[in-house]
Amino acid sequence: MELESVKRIYRGYSNVYDALFKRFFYPRIKCAISSMDIKPGERVLDVGVGTGLSLPLYPRNCEVVGIDLSREMLMKAKKKVIVNRLDHIRLFEMDAMNLAFADNSFDKVFISHVVSVVPNPYRVMDEVKRVCKREGDIVIVNHFQSKNKMVAGFEKVITPVSEKIGWRSDLSMDEFIARAKLKVKRKFKLKKLDFWYLIFTVNEK
Ligand SMILES: C[S@@+](CC[C@H](N)C(=O)[O-])C[C@H]1O[C@@H](n2cnc3c(N)ncnc32)[C@H](O)[C@@H]1O
Repeated sequence: MELESVKRIYRGYSNVYDALFKRFFYPRIKCAISSMDIKPGERVLDVGVGTGLSLPLYPRNCEVVGIDLSREMLMKAKKKVIVNRLDHIRLFEMDAMNLAFADNSFDKVFISHVVSVVPNPYRVMDEVKRVCKREGDIVIVNHFQSKNKMVAGFEKVITPVSEKIGWRSDLSMDEFIARAKLKVKRKFKLKKLDFWYLIFTVNEK
């Protein structure tokens, strides 16, 4: 997907995103963040923070930076920061494929429901690995292609449609892990019949 298409699609979603997706996405976000073992003083980067569903879940004694391509999605996130007085959180409009941060500047990185949205997930992962400290945690929550051949075939067929509504449905998890050269500590789904995985990785440089 082109960057401009992504911006246009998420501009459209910004007003309805929480109402449409919170009930599906929030339990996974909550489980992932509570499993990240964020320690006092740690710096955490939330890539593609969107409307900020994750933001109230971060401990107040860490420092969080959220970035997103969509100004309109970020405006919703900013509202959550203000309403909840989340002074430990800063938000920036930024492309995940070109992060404006120094090498090794974060202890942990969280990327939820983003890798199948960006034009080049491998470029994002290269950037994430660059800005995350060596041995830091990189946690990914995402939809991946089903391992069931029939469902996977269906997901491939509907990819042109799913891209029009904001994500590709045919990203293979095994291929993603291999091509992004991720060292996986553990990965699991919240429910047996779920298409979304939580992947906990450690940053190897
Ligand atoms: C499905 S939403 C996920 C939002 C949030 N992480 C969540 O789990 O609810 C995808 C987000 O990725 C953002 N995004 C897409 N491409 C991006 C890019 N290249 N750089 C930064 N953010 C991007 C979109 O603007 C959107 O807010």
